[in-house]
Amino acid sequence: MPSNNLVPRQLAAPEPTWTVTTDVVILGSGAAGLSAALAARPVRDVVLITKDVLAAGSTSWAQGGLAAVLDPNDSIENHVQDTLEAGGGLCDEAAVRTLVSEAPTAIRYLMELGASFDPGAHEGVALTREGGHSHRRIVHAGGDQSGAEVQRTLDESVRLAGVQVVEKAFGIDLVIGHTKSGVRAVAGVKVAILDSNGGVESVGIVYAPAVIVATGGYGQVYASTSNPPAVTGDGIALALRAGVAASDLEFIQFHPTVLWVGSEATGQQALISEAVRGEGAILLDAAGGRVMAGVHPQEDLAPRDVVAAAISRRMAEAPAGVDDHVYLDARRIENFEERFPSITASCRNVGIDPVTELIPVSPAAHYVCGGVKATLDGTTSLQGLFVVGEAACTGVHGANRLASNSLTEGVVAGTRVGRALSWSLPEIVEPQEVEADGALIDSYHRAALRNAMSKYVGVLRTPDGLEAASAILRTLADNASAAVVPTRKAFEATNMLTIATAVVAAAKARTESRGCHRRTDFAEPLAAWERHLMCRIVDGRVEVD
Ligand code: SIN
Repeated sequence: MPSNNLVPRQLAAPEPTWTVTTDVVILGSGAAGLSAALAARPVRDVVLITKDVLAAGSTSWAQGGLAAVLDPNDSIENHVQDTLEAGGGLCDEAAVRTLVSEAPTAIRYLMELGASFDPGAHEGVALTREGGHSHRRIVHAGGDQSGAEVQRTLDESVRLAGVQVVEKAFGIDLVIGHTKSGVRAVAGVKVAILDSNGGVESVGIVYAPAVIVATGGYGQVYASTSNPPAVTGDGIALALRAGVAASDLEFIQFHPTVLWVGSEATGQQALISEAVRGEGAILLDAAGGRVMAGVHPQEDLAPRDVVAAAISRRMAEAPAGVDDHVYLDARRIENFEERFPSITASCRNVGIDPVTELIPVSPAAHYVCGGVKATLDGTTSLQGLFVVGEAACTGVHGANRLASNSLTEGVVAGTRVGRALSWSLPEIVEPQEVEADGALIDSYHRAALRNAMSKYVGVLRTPDGLEAASAILRTLADNASAAVVPTRKAFEATNMLTIATAVVAAAKARTESRGCHRRTDFAEPLAAWERHLMCRIVDGRVEVD
């Protein structure tokens, strides 16, 4: 079903003035991209491109950790079943089994590279619990700084391995050609070198038979998110423009608990890890009532979609007149400051002492379960294009990701694609397809876009709200022009428009509630909808089927 909304067919950019040739080019520098680089590098020339500095993406901010079965009392089967249960009937069980089976090896691999996880009794590491997990199986570091330790470890390893890292460079669009036998395939990627203000210094083409997209999700299309500013869906938009399908885009996971600092707060909000509930904290409303009592057998440790929806419903009831946040009571947790040092600091920064006071929290966009349709080996429908990590939809998350499966997926999938490319590269192809005219929207449209997404396409979605979001996005798309000055922010804004348009089209099409897609007019999951929606751009329009 085509949406009425047009999106740019290419990003407008200056003519390329230089070329580089390599074996593998990677866009993105989180756990997935760095793992891919490391695995491919011993054999291949690898160029890793990131639009900011290496650590600017979501990986560095991950608090909870990495899910893996390391306790002999736990089992791979338990982890598989927990993942399938959280995924609301849309997981690919084979992909889940591969991920879960390879997760312990991924942890050991990171430790061999020098990752220092918090010490404990299971293979030397401590394990905690998070929502939807039937056992303690989350490996963590620095208490609540797990992602930062993974990022540090992989950054160092990638630099030591001789990967060519290019920071402040933006992957604009794929360059496409055809193989000798006429198969459409990737020839490389058009890249803008950015100046320190995000302006375009020059544009060139990196030719490579393999382009790996590892650019993460798109939390920044929402006004309030746990994601850092760089997470704008660039790689998914790039793949959509190249004609590659993305799947499950409507399933955006809202983390139940970011630190609430006022209803007008926008941008990246401080996360209050689910591990805080894993260690015993409970959710209360402003009248002191338990939010999760009677909602789910696992109460405060129910899967994330269940908790976020319960909080949203409770906020709508406005207990004690409070309709925009609830509270997390973590006062019962011993040694809170040592266990959660960065959360303690975030709270104290805004004048709340989590050791003695309730923490005000609300849901915010956190993780996207969908992405470019890909296998856990990163392969897509376009020869030479590989997608890993949050940018990919491999089927391991289904309609709702199980907590802490994502860093693990990044390392597992990144390593798998890197290793496969070290064994064999796709055929080198000459660039052939003539580019369509490019356009951009100005970066100041980002505010209207984010506000529309948060207001109308949040945890609970109404048909009128989805229509309103669609109309606002259409107006923004009308502003797309070749005359807009190309900058990082304009590239990002245009990618965000493409992604938001696809998300809204998918959310409108899915007339049921499942996982983290909840509609007020179709409150239950429907058997007929136990299927995936695919989004494509055809002639500049998003199509969903
Ligand atoms: C958290 O620490 O609550 C986030 C973990 C995750 O998103 O997997």
